Amino acid sequence: MRILVIGSGAREHALLRALRRDPAVTDLFVAPGNAGTASLAQTCPVDIADPESVAGLAASLAVDLVVIGPEVPLVNGAADAVAARGIPVFGPSADAAQIEGSKAFAKDVMNVAGVPTSTAVTVTWPGEIEAALTECGSPYVVKDDGLAAGKGVVVTQDREVAVAHALAVLEAGHPVLVEEFLAGPEVSLFAVCDGTRAVPLLPAQDFKRLGDGDTGPNTGGMGAYAPLDWTPAGLVPQVQRDVLDPVLAEMAARGAAFSGLLYAGLVLTEDGPKVIEFNCRFGDPETQVVLELLDSPLGALLAAAADGDLTRVPAPVWKAGSAVTVVIAAENYPGIPVTGDPITGADQDGILHAGTAVRDGVVVSAGGRVLSATAAGTDLAAARTAAYALVDAVSLRGSQHRTDIAEAAAAGLVRVP
Ligand code: AMP
Ligand code: GLY
Repeated sequence: MRILVIGSGAREHALLRALRRDPAVTDLFVAPGNAGTASLAQTCPVDIADPESVAGLAASLAVDLVVIGPEVPLVNGAADAVAARGIPVFGPSADAAQIEGSKAFAKDVMNVAGVPTSTAVTVTWPGEIEAALTECGSPYVVKDDGLAAGKGVVVTQDREVAVAHALAVLEAGHPVLVEEFLAGPEVSLFAVCDGTRAVPLLPAQDFKRLGDGDTGPNTGGMGAYAPLDWTPAGLVPQVQRDVLDPVLAEMAARGAAFSGLLYAGLVLTEDGPKVIEFNCRFGDPETQVVLELLDSPLGALLAAAADGDLTRVPAPVWKAGSAVTVVIAAENYPGIPVTGDPITGADQDGILHAGTAVRDGVVVSAGGRVLSATAAGTDLAAARTAAYALVDAVSLRGSQHRTDIAEAAAAGLVRVP
């Protein structure tokens, strides 16, 4: 198999590493890639936001499969453009990608399909904000309806902050979703989908806030670990039955069958698992830990999904033990990051690259999330030790990372209400 991976994050670096381990994969290409992916795949410069450029590249490389990492190309229709040229593609159509592209669309799908989720009110003009906040109550959850790289959500007890975020989103021309706050630990569950069937992967947990102890602003994700040994028995089959299967059926009924990776963001509340969001792609940084533990061929799995027939591959097999990833972010992230600084230690095995580039032969920072230090171990404590050893051997001026990734879970302190 010749495979083209679209994207430039640590998620794509992890996808390429896992694809390299699949004996059926002969050639790998990446667009646009980063400094770390160059040793695994041939780098192809292309504007990934433009569907025709992506499809043209796939055709010129004569690949057997295109795997699309980020949401922006998917929402723009990259999978449709690739499929229109008769090339198999792992990733949903633009219509199906609306499950991530519009939070109001996702809520509507869930409500029709009877999927447990928080109640939400869509606000389209400033006069509706106060009533929506009163209805949903404090802590206030205020979301940008559209794509915002994980930074469009504000969760706050401060009503003025909630109103200000809602006004800012409306001023930017987007609808606002005000939601009921869900209390409980979060779980990211990925499912590989072929349009009608969903094959769940290992549950993982992400750390969305910038600072230790879940403080500071929301980010794209500052670290992750898998598996989650504290989840109730039967969680994955329950989510398959109550969330994944009904959503796939409802999407197909709308003429927007979902093929690709369906990411269910769940909160395990005292009333059971409820969905806070769907993404239409692999999550970053959860992918780094989930794929670190995958012990069966990734290329064959993604190709079967792209061909609409997951029954032809066996269920994924997982390694024993745990994996942890710690994101190393640039100074000022999640604001406009400081870039262009030299990095040392980025060539260690287990350092997955995101915002990196090579300038004059030197690896430099080139984005907000710069590296993802990823390691496995016999248990969570061992995986944490190994991941933080990688972090300690990296140097990047002004960089930030959390010191408490997987700490509570390793100490047995995560509780489901
Ligand atoms: P989202 O982009 O929708 O995943 O939201 C980003 C983060 O905000 C989530 O990972 C949660 O930590 C938090 N969040 C979003 N919606 C809710 C909610 N209804 N209740 C509690 N926390 C939420
Ligand atoms: N880790 C959260 C996301 O990928 O959206």
